[in-house]
Amino acid sequence: MFNHGLTTKVAPSILSADFTRMAEALKSMEEWGADWVHCDVMDGMFVPNITFGQQMIRDFRKNTNLILDVHLMVQAPERYIDEFIEAGADIITIHQEATTHLHRTILQIRDKGVKCGVAINPATSIYTLEEVLDDIDMVLLMSCDPGFGGQPFIPYALNKAKRLREMMGDRQIDIEVDGGVSEKNIDIILESGINAIVAGSALFKSQDPKKTCEILRNGNR
Ligand code: DX5
Ligand code: ZN
Repeated sequence: MFNHGLTTKVAPSILSADFTRMAEALKSMEEWGADWVHCDVMDGMFVPNITFGQQMIRDFRKNTNLILDVHLMVQAPERYIDEFIEAGADIITIHQEATTHLHRTILQIRDKGVKCGVAINPATSIYTLEEVLDDIDMVLLMSCDPGFGGQPFIPYALNKAKRLREMMGDRQIDIEVDGGVSEKNIDIILESGINAIVAGSALFKSQDPKKTCEILRNGNR
């Protein structure tokens, strides 16, 4: 177990909710004891799927005080960052693969006082982030190919997490995992140094989401 000193955050993915009942989904997440609302913005270009945009984030902001963790699966996200900040995002995560000038895009987020995450797809090396570690608040390790909820967990994300934690040294940077997380694999996930847990299907299909949320935070002790 890594001693990174960071608290574990649970971030239910609202992609798994009924899109006509988003306010109810936000209330449920509060009842489950969630920390963040993971918001998957998909543009139909960077990923094959299309979800929602700035207006939805603005409406989430009106309906919850939970931290809005906005995952932009958008090609050239620098075009929209200011609008997502204005809409009320607390954390904005961009993909390393989607922006040409990663450093500039990171600064565009951080200069406005918003937390910045950088996501990498399963096949992207953690070493593509080595130079920017001092400029970011979070790394999002995709444990599925982005685009859809309900896909299987790709186990080598765990090895990436361990090496990334070592590469981070004593920097206090969150490592988030996204894709196929469940009560079954949470123990090895938490042991790998990951401390922010995205879960869509595992929570929304659970018989007891509150209990599942607790297990995702603390493991099956
Ligand atoms: C996938 C999204 C995920 C998705 C995870 O592209 O980024 O956030 O909602 O869903 P589950 O937990 O069902 O794999
Ligand atoms: Zn996501």
